[in-house]
Amino acid sequence: MMNMHEKNALLESICSKARILPVITIPREEDILPMCDALAAGGLRTLEITLRTEHGLTAIRRLRKERPDLCVGAGTVLDLKMLKAVEEAGAQFVVTPGCTTEMLQAGMNSAVPMLPGASSASDLMLGYGLGYRRFKLFPAEVSGGVAALKAFSAPFGELRFCPTGGVSPDNLKNYLALPNVMCVGGSWMLDPKWISAQDWESVTQACRKALAAFG
Ligand code: 3PG
Repeated sequence: MMNMHEKNALLESICSKARILPVITIPREEDILPMCDALAAGGLRTLEITLRTEHGLTAIRRLRKERPDLCVGAGTVLDLKMLKAVEEAGAQFVVTPGCTTEMLQAGMNSAVPMLPGASSASDLMLGYGLGYRRFKLFPAEVSGGVAALKAFSAPFGELRFCPTGGVSPDNLKNYLALPNVMCVGGSWMLDPKWISAQDWESVTQACRKALAAFG
């Protein structure tokens, strides 16, 4: 079992390598592989599969088996039952939208590293006290966005973030310029109209375009 130091290091490596973490909601089971293949073709090979639909768990299980070269995380993990389910499905990391003591403690005792959501100094202190050093800032834009991250960098110099929620091609570069941002997350490359039309090429193009912002 990894200690918190090792989990923080693993999250840093997963996120900084990913650069962009797509937040994925699977509408139909048949979309799992083509949607994730389209993201991978566009350069996004680290995925956050949310439990927002009934296909989330199936997707994690299938991707681990059928796409072993992708890094598959679970998102929208809200309670202990969901945490256990994604661990069993083979998730390689876990993302939560917010933090409770119960979930943070479960994350410490889990074999899978957890990136907890935080939107305030109090959330960060709760996680910090338990050894967490990497967080998802959620919902990033409405929680102060770039200005909040700059302000957090003073008291929380050791912490690094994956801002998610309202991140788009328009503000991506502002986030990436911050030293305490390790990657950004979002769903803009999975426009619902492309998904319903199964227009996978547009998904791939949107990923490539966004990655180009990294220079
Ligand atoms: C999330 O839970 O991380 C968000 O749904 C992603 O945010 P976005 O849809 O605004 O990109």
